[in-house]
Amino acid sequence: MSNKPASYGPIHPDYPKFLHGGDYNPDQWYRTPEIWDQDMRLMNLAHCNAMSVGIFSWAALEPEEGRYEFGWLDTIMDKLAAEGARAVLATPTGSRPAWMSEKYPEVLRVDAYRHRNLHGTRHNHCYTSPVYREKTQKINRLLAERYKDHPALLVWHISNEFGGECHCDLCQDAFRSWLRRRYNNRIDDLNLAWWTGFWAHTFNSFDQIESPAPHGENCVHGHNLDWKRFVTWQTNEFMKAEIAPLREVTPTVPITTNMMGTYPGLDYWKMAPELDVISWDNYPSWHRDTSKTWELAADIAFVHDLNRSLKGGKPFMLMESTPSQVNWQPVNKLKRPGMHRLSSLQAVAHGSDTVQYFQWRKSRGASEKFHGAVVDHVGHEHTRVFQDVAGVGSDLEKLSAVLGSTVRPDVAIVYDWENRWAIDDAQALRNGNGEKKYEEVCKDHYRAFWRQGIPCDIIDTEQSFEGYRLVVAPMLYMLKPGVAERLSAFVAAGGTLATTFFTGYVDQSDLCFLGGFPGPLKPVIGIWAEEIDALYNADENGIRFAPGNELGLSGTWKATRFCEIIHAEGARVVATYASDFYAGQPALTVNDFGKGQAWHMAAYAEQGLLDAFYTELAGRLSLLRSLDAVLPEGVSAQLRTDGTTRFVFLMNFTETEQRVALPGAFADLLADGAVLAEEAVLAPYAVRVLQA
Ligand code: GLA
Ligand code: ZN
Repeated sequence: MSNKPASYGPIHPDYPKFLHGGDYNPDQWYRTPEIWDQDMRLMNLAHCNAMSVGIFSWAALEPEEGRYEFGWLDTIMDKLAAEGARAVLATPTGSRPAWMSEKYPEVLRVDAYRHRNLHGTRHNHCYTSPVYREKTQKINRLLAERYKDHPALLVWHISNEFGGECHCDLCQDAFRSWLRRRYNNRIDDLNLAWWTGFWAHTFNSFDQIESPAPHGENCVHGHNLDWKRFVTWQTNEFMKAEIAPLREVTPTVPITTNMMGTYPGLDYWKMAPELDVISWDNYPSWHRDTSKTWELAADIAFVHDLNRSLKGGKPFMLMESTPSQVNWQPVNKLKRPGMHRLSSLQAVAHGSDTVQYFQWRKSRGASEKFHGAVVDHVGHEHTRVFQDVAGVGSDLEKLSAVLGSTVRPDVAIVYDWENRWAIDDAQALRNGNGEKKYEEVCKDHYRAFWRQGIPCDIIDTEQSFEGYRLVVAPMLYMLKPGVAERLSAFVAAGGTLATTFFTGYVDQSDLCFLGGFPGPLKPVIGIWAEEIDALYNADENGIRFAPGNELGLSGTWKATRFCEIIHAEGARVVATYASDFYAGQPALTVNDFGKGQAWHMAAYAEQGLLDAFYTELAGRLSLLRSLDAVLPEGVSAQLRTDGTTRFVFLMNFTETEQRVALPGAFADLLADGAVLAEEAVLAPYAVRVLQA
């Protein structure tokens, strides 16, 4: 990855600090402005320096059409600046004033049944409506013009958690126009791509097409897929319209929008190029099952890595997390002592340059009044949660050297939204919500690296594979144009590719490849996948290593859920199925291709096998490790480096003390640089940041 920087500057060059703070709603407290002074006092005590303001403030900023009230925001911006703090200033479009819905019903979203919403809740505007776009651009421009020279303005926060879809007439027209462009105005091309000969679904013209609907068309997979692509495209167009006046008026202020991890509704890779910095909202259910704390931590690590990868390794923002509990999970458990610090610094370990919360202060009324906050209803700083937050704030101050640093992993795991959409829509394997397990399988493979302290990027198939030593592409069912060629070139040039069952079945329109799976990847993987068996929960097969196999692994490992029946066509067989009518047929193969190799794991394998397999590969490929040490189960090591100095985050995601033998002497940054040699002792949930 030679052309990528070794390190990045801070998010805003004028403010070289970790950002620490949260969603701040002073407009809910305009009747008691003395609270605002309390907020400033408490903000300093909590070591907070960045407040996200204005996220749902449209009614406070424009109480009647064309009448603006910026006075309260002026006061808040001034107060923040006076404290040396900064504003992550939001555009208010995540919810809209009542007068707007009343006067312009077209701004209200229409659901898949074609029912228009009433005014209410949030995140429910039509993203096509010209009126909404015009109103958005107006208020955004006014905000930019008013605060462009304000010392508190640091980052733009566009809207809030974009998501959902609208099926109104405006959106239907926009969808049809999008399809016309995609298929060059040729309805026959669309008919072919969607395979509409099936069930007499052939269209005569683009005008006949509607968005998928529960009571209408919903079984043409190319149609469903194109609709999802359109929703991403149109949401992105809306976001670009929001951004335009901000870029024009404040060209140097970085722009972000808060994303939602692996939220299925939007392909974030398409939105990332419009943003200067990625941010995301992270709400894990910590302590749901304490025997699995570390497994959840590994899953969250995957998403942090995805967010870092979305801009090629550039540090991201943890825009929201809760200081204690949320209020919307089935069980809203408190973070146990130590977990707030650990989970906050976990984000930093994976590349976040901020720790931010929802929310700064608990609201008095409405649906989020019992959501965790830095400042409780009691109103003072003498709470457990406040002290936890202040502790994280002072930790971040000790880590300033880490700011802007990143990691350049040897491993990329492919997690591709369009592939996910196609897999989820396929009527095959096992049906039902979540039964196909694409995301879980990606995370299972990731976990094998997490356990070894091997950093990973999480990329989609449209990113470059160059610079990685190992590309892991689980369940790569859909191969978009050029992907097979690029993966083949990657392997031919010496790279290692790892694939699994359900790879190379369809093209970008969800049309099956003819001539045998894995389609255009057949030559590089060197197999033909003839059938795929889905197992019931009680069923099990085994993956048995051949004696003297080249991995040096032995024994029989569990295969459940999906077993693909494959034939080696050039590949060597490393392990075979242990039972059933396909006993003895290949279950794990390797193919030499050019200077590299492609491995294929044909069955849904137990974690132990993935761990053993990738440990072997890691050794052979000398993959970059965060720390040259043996990590006990549940201990994570993550690396950030600026190219010279290495920062190793050692985190104990277990409920017991753990010890890690160190390969040298390190300065322990959170312990004021005390030297740690030979061994790091980690209390339950402890984190250490070692500098070398
Ligand atoms: C989301 C939203 C916030 C808030 C939190 C609660 O992330 O962006 O406004 O509702 O959830 O956890
Ligand atoms: Zn609409």
